[in-house]
Amino acid sequence: MRISLLLAASACIMAAVLLYSSGRESRLLRADPDSISRNSTLETFALSRGAPLFELHCASCHGVQGEGDSRRGVPALNDGDWLYGSGLVSDIEQVIKFGIRSYHPRAWNLAIMPAYARPRPSSRDGKIAPLSPQDIRDLVEFLYRAQGRTADAAAALRGAALFTGVGGCYDCHAVDAKGDSAIGAPDLTDRITLYGDGSRESLSLSISQGRHGLCPAWVNRIGPAGIREVAVFVHSLSGAG
Ligand code: HEC
Ligand code: HEC
Repeated sequence: MRISLLLAASACIMAAVLLYSSGRESRLLRADPDSISRNSTLETFALSRGAPLFELHCASCHGVQGEGDSRRGVPALNDGDWLYGSGLVSDIEQVIKFGIRSYHPRAWNLAIMPAYARPRPSSRDGKIAPLSPQDIRDLVEFLYRAQGRTADAAAALRGAALFTGVGGCYDCHAVDAKGDSAIGAPDLTDRITLYGDGSRESLSLSISQGRHGLCPAWVNRIGPAGIREVAVFVHSLSGAG
């Protein structure tokens, strides 16, 4: 008798917990993603579920604290620097759903860094011409100067002309080299590097061999509530939460 009462009571509690979290889940999904951080109950709920999802699916590449890994071209998610969008929950959610160059038809895939040392640097745009090793050295000096580092002045001048001229770099990275978060082209004037340690060698490698970073699509692997929960968690990592 006692045992069956106990069982009934614990079933009731479990049902209540389930109802409670499925209610929260549907409220989370109905909410405007960019206003979740203004609702502390909903945000706390999303964070408590987003953190373990991040650890399970994302930390292997992005790091446990979202610190990234520039040896593998994985961006940090705990700074305010975004390749895509401006770090809103809705921007982050879009990346998580469809990925970047993930082969999902809705993935971000608008721009690919050409490999300028190859005879045909871009498989997409036949008009992009290869650059000589000297040109690439000049461009690196130009980027060093743009980052406020000591650079060979004459080479940097030649590099600037290449950047906005035949190199066609401005087309993606913008004339001021500050990048374009509508297409995932990084800011080249800051010292935050996606690839390598920011040395002349690593910049030169990016320009000569091209880059092709990939973030998987999660839409068929994590449910819609989970995707939103991870997005809220990533948003909080950047200190914007
Ligand atoms: C068609 C668009 C496009 C053009 C043209 C282009 N880039 Fe890029 N570049 C990108 C994208 C996109 C990335 C980021 C690659 C990634 O996310 O894997 C990138 C990355 C880089 C990086 C690595 C940055 C980092 O933080 O590690 C450097 C350096 C760079 N580009 C320099 C140049 C220079 C110099 C030129 C011209 C000679 C140029 N790019 C032309 C799209 C372009
Ligand atoms: C296999 C490694 C890998 C895994 C796993 C992975 N990512 Fe990524 N992610 C990347 C790479 C590489 C990029 C940069 C792509 C590029 O070069 O544009 C990226 C980019 C991103 C960006 C864009 C950052 C910006 O600056 O705009 C977000 C957001 C992101 N990932 C979130 C996630 C989340 C959340 C998960 C887990 C659900 C995840 N990623 C799992 C490799 C990974």
